[in-house]
Amino acid sequence: MKSHLKHIEQKLSNRKSENAFRELKLNDNLVDFCSNDYLGFASEQEIHAFEPAQKYGSTGSRLISGNHLQTVEVEQFLANYYKAESGLIYNSGYNANMGLFSCVAQRTDTIIYDELIHASIRDGIRLSNAHSFSFQHNDISSLEEKVKNAKGNVFVAVESIYSMDGDEAPLNDIVEVCKKYNAALIVDEAHACGIFGEKGEGLIVQQKLENEVFARVVTFGKAYGSHGAIVLGYKSLKDYLINYSRPFIYTTALPLSNVLTIKKAHQFLAENKDRREQLLELIEYFKFRIQGLKFTIVESNSSIQCVIVPGNKEVKYLAELIQSNGFDVRPILSPTVAKGKERLRICLHTFNTKQQVDDLLKVMGGEL
Ligand SMILES: Cc1ncc(COP(=O)(O)O)c(C=O)c1O
Repeated sequence: MKSHLKHIEQKLSNRKSENAFRELKLNDNLVDFCSNDYLGFASEQEIHAFEPAQKYGSTGSRLISGNHLQTVEVEQFLANYYKAESGLIYNSGYNANMGLFSCVAQRTDTIIYDELIHASIRDGIRLSNAHSFSFQHNDISSLEEKVKNAKGNVFVAVESIYSMDGDEAPLNDIVEVCKKYNAALIVDEAHACGIFGEKGEGLIVQQKLENEVFARVVTFGKAYGSHGAIVLGYKSLKDYLINYSRPFIYTTALPLSNVLTIKKAHQFLAENKDRREQLLELIEYFKFRIQGLKFTIVESNSSIQCVIVPGNKEVKYLAELIQSNGFDVRPILSPTVAKGKERLRICLHTFNTKQQVDDLLKVMGGEL
């Protein structure tokens, strides 16, 4: 036992010496510039305090006792909402990506993914038996080079909005490369859905590319203020996942109340376009205001705005200074991002005010 603990403690001490030790913190009433609750839906009573016709918890996996008529109906409602043929709900975005990528490609196939792709997709790829290669972030020639030389059926994985940078994938160009080499495109829309598109359907629908993608992953723990995710795609993909996707098969289904909350959040979103418009206006305001300051920023039109502060120690110091002034901004450290690319990740929300943005930028610029 002693040697086991010694190994664990050594690893922890490495993290501490690299200033990369992770700790769970309680939120202490600071102004929220860090959560994924972009539209304020997490505290929206119309979404969470409704009275479902049937209150029911989980009793088993979807394949045993955890399937309900309402769940099936919500899946089809969501497929229609996102203009897809069908959809399969997973317990989280992490599970959805693990579940999809671990089984979609066979041993002789290849998955090509953007180098900044989310950990859940990397972990899914790791579990699959397929060949896999990364391409340079948002670089079409790098993507083409990799796809051209890939073996078997080729899958390409991207995010429409990247979680740690907030920037957008050049989806039209990616679709062209995929078409040219007959590759199947899979797009994670975790940070785009709820925000972009006429009803918040995400960038794929906004750019009318829904018929060009093999699958999409939409998560409900971010703009929707709920929990869970859906994989959207062909009916045969849904049937395949029900048969082969272990993170779907071997887990207890989401409780019905959660599933109904997801539907409620979509209905609320469709009826409250002003929420999205308010957010988009605040994003523009932030971008305009930060221009005048001498920061290295990642170009982004999304609610995720990043300021590069190289070095774990340096970015942690600045984040703590900002927090002590009342704003909850979190540092993103290496190894979560590459060394030298450590950053402050500022998330903008409908409920943030322009005054709060001004005050935050004053603190960052050393004025307060
Ligand atoms: C791009 C992306 N995909 C998937 C996930 C996982 O989603 P969830 O938090 O629902 O597990 C996240 C969130 O961390 C994400 O940013």
